[in-house]
Formats: sequence, structure tokens, C-alpha cells
Amino acid sequence: MKQFYIAGNWKMHKTVAESVALARDLVSKLGSTRQKVMIAPAFTALASVAEVVKGTQLRLGAQNMGPEEQGAHTGEVSVLMLKDLGVQTVILGHSERRHSYREDDALINKKLLLALKHGLEPILCVGETLEEREAGKLESVIGTQVRDGLKGVDAAALARVIIAYEPVWAIGTGKTATPQDADAVHLYIRKVLGGLYGEAAAKAMVIQYGGSVKADNAAELMGMPNIDGALVGGASLKPETFVPIVDFSA
Ligand code: PGA
Repeated sequence: MKQFYIAGNWKMHKTVAESVALARDLVSKLGSTRQKVMIAPAFTALASVAEVVKGTQLRLGAQNMGPEEQGAHTGEVSVLMLKDLGVQTVILGHSERRHSYREDDALINKKLLLALKHGLEPILCVGETLEEREAGKLESVIGTQVRDGLKGVDAAALARVIIAYEPVWAIGTGKTATPQDADAVHLYIRKVLGGLYGEAAAKAMVIQYGGSVKADNAAELMGMPNIDGALVGGASLKPETFVPIVDFSA
């Protein structure tokens, strides 16, 4: 049976105490899950949540990281600091980073290479805006984000990368791509990957869907042949909305 990869992106929510409480609850409720599950609290809560998830089935993720190892970079958090806390995964190129903080493909690629160099699992987020989709630019936008995001990544390292397709117009809006639409984009991503790394590598790639994933649409999305998991924002903030997504088939 296929294992799915369900990740929770807590974004800029929750105090340390709230984060610890949620992590504890998830550890106890997801004890027997057969899926791969990751939670990404805010930087300020990482150290405390790390203590809660240590030795459990929950992976610890960060929502971003700086593009340099260390140095005079006010306000940044480095890969070495994340590793030091026990972080295993890092979300890179989230559309909120791309659009609100002007992160471009070159910067995201630099971070991704750095994450790989230090043994973190990067989740590379890609996605088009509604404007780009309506202008017929979906494939060129996604293709560029995938190609440029993965520049310099060899086939062995690719096996440690996760891609998340998150149409910008579906994030936090309650609008989900139809499972068929999402699957078609995932298939296109595999085509791009196939051109770069060969068909077997493209097929083996884990591609998550993100954008208003909820308990009531998770099963249908995960039922599509090219969707291998979910990157969940809003619904990852409460056990009663996140656990049923992880247990979608139960
Ligand atoms: P959402 O966010 O589930 O709240 O739409 C998804 C994401 O931004 O990763």
C-alpha cells in the first residue's frame, strides 16, 4: 500500500506553549499512522516542539531558512541552527515567501542546495497565480520553478527532495483545485522531472498537493495517481482538522 506524506505548515501561528500542546496531541493521536507526517511550527517553537516529537513518528520541519551557512545576516536562521535543533525537513519557496518577500527561483535554489548539503529534506513549493493560469502560462511557470529550483541537484540528491504543488489561488481561500486539475499539474511536473532525470526518478518523486486541503477533500485528492501527499496550512492548526486528513482513508 502506498505511503502518503502529509505535512502541516503552521505558518505564523501559535505561541510556544500552544505549539507544544498541539504537538503532544498529535503525537498521541497519530501514534499508529502508516503515513509519513511532518509538522512545521514557527522558528520560535522549534526547540520546544523538537523535545515533544523526538523519537516519535512525527518529523520536525522548518518553514524557511536563510541562504547562507552563517555570518552577518540579520534576521536569518541558518541550516546549521535548524540541524542543531533536530529539524529534518525545510519548506522552501512557499508562495508566501515568493510573493510577499520577493524570493526568486535563484534564491530558493541556493537554499535548496544548502539544505541538501547538510542533510535536510527540502520541500520545494511551486505554484501558479490565478492570473498566470488564466493567461495560459501554467506550464511555463511551473516548469521554470521546477527546473530553476532544482538547478545543480544530481539524481542521487533528487531522491531526497519533495515537491509541493500549491496553486496560489487555492491557498487559504477555501478554493481547491479539482482533483483532476491538480493531478494534471502533478503529471506535468513528472514530465519535467522525467526530462531532467529520467522516467524512473520522476515516477519515484513524492509530489504533495497544497491549497485548502481539508478532511472532506483529502481522500479524493489522495486517490489521484500522481498525488502523493498534502501540504496543509489552516487545517493543520487543530488536531480535529489535521488528524482526519492524515487518516483520510481510515
Ligand atoms: P492552506 O495552506 O491549507 O491554508 O490553504 C496551504 C499552504 O500554504 O501550505
